[in-house]
Amino acid sequence: PRVWVSQPLFDDIVARLDEHFRVDAAREVTAWPQAAIAARLREADGALVTLNERIGADEIADAPRLRAVANVGVGYNNLDVDALHARGIVATNTPDVLTETTADLGFALLMATARRITEGERWLRAGEWTQWSFDTLLGQDVHGSTLGILGMGRIGQGIARRGAHGFGMRVLYHNRSRLPGGIESNCRATLVDMDTLLRESDHLVLVLPYSPQTRHVIDAAALAKMKPTATLTNIARGGLVDEDALADALAAGRLASAGLDVFEGEPAVNPRLLALRNVVLTPHVGSASRATRRAMATLAVDNLIAALGRGPRAGDPPT
Ligand code: DGY
Repeated sequence: PRVWVSQPLFDDIVARLDEHFRVDAAREVTAWPQAAIAARLREADGALVTLNERIGADEIADAPRLRAVANVGVGYNNLDVDALHARGIVATNTPDVLTETTADLGFALLMATARRITEGERWLRAGEWTQWSFDTLLGQDVHGSTLGILGMGRIGQGIARRGAHGFGMRVLYHNRSRLPGGIESNCRATLVDMDTLLRESDHLVLVLPYSPQTRHVIDAAALAKMKPTATLTNIARGGLVDEDALADALAAGRLASAGLDVFEGEPAVNPRLLALRNVVLTPHVGSASRATRRAMATLAVDNLIAALGRGPRAGDPPT
């Protein structure tokens, strides 16, 4: 069997595929045009891909051998899972191994946003700091404030635990369904409706999956319900936020600040956001610690080997 690896991962981890397959692995970071993705899949029995590669009905239309697509990432909105399943192609992702690292980044962004860390650094580096003064760069408190979490999956729960246990925050969440009592009490989190979440959060963090149903869940109407002193942090997918509406709210002082790790057209960033001082921007690095990226690559390789029937099947007891 042949497998295609779309982006460079860790060589020693990808090398495990060589034991089972003929491997065609990208040697450098590549922006694959859709036609090139289709061409690679035409020859492949399996593929190891990242969020950069969009794979839907068109890309698999002429891929007769393809049996498995392993996504290196927990979010899989780059895959049309219905189209893959309709062809009997297994799709896998890498949950769990990145939960705590991504929650760390979410909290780092929340704090940088609330306390104006990158804005202060830019100001200092520009030589603007001439004397300590009482009202320089006043921000919002994190400790003791109300943390709102939209999307209470594993990463949302990680952020809730950090907020509740580390910073004494009151935690509100909104989710499709209520968490089991044990998890709620561990996170010290209370389920509320969307309006309450928007109105009461001092710091709102988006951690829900992107889909056509969640596109622009934070739009002008949602932003209008938030406190003007509130911050918004997005570590999930850029398309959850209407970026023009967000830029309007930030420019008009209807929202204090935003921390964004993800963008609707990434790697392009809305120029209106780039121009604002009250936005902290990071380049989609939620899971980017060395250990976690190694764990993600390992899990994706394991998934592909199992899905192509070359190792223990997923769910088999360890030997
Ligand atoms: C994910 O896992 O979905 C991240 O966004 C990419 O690491």
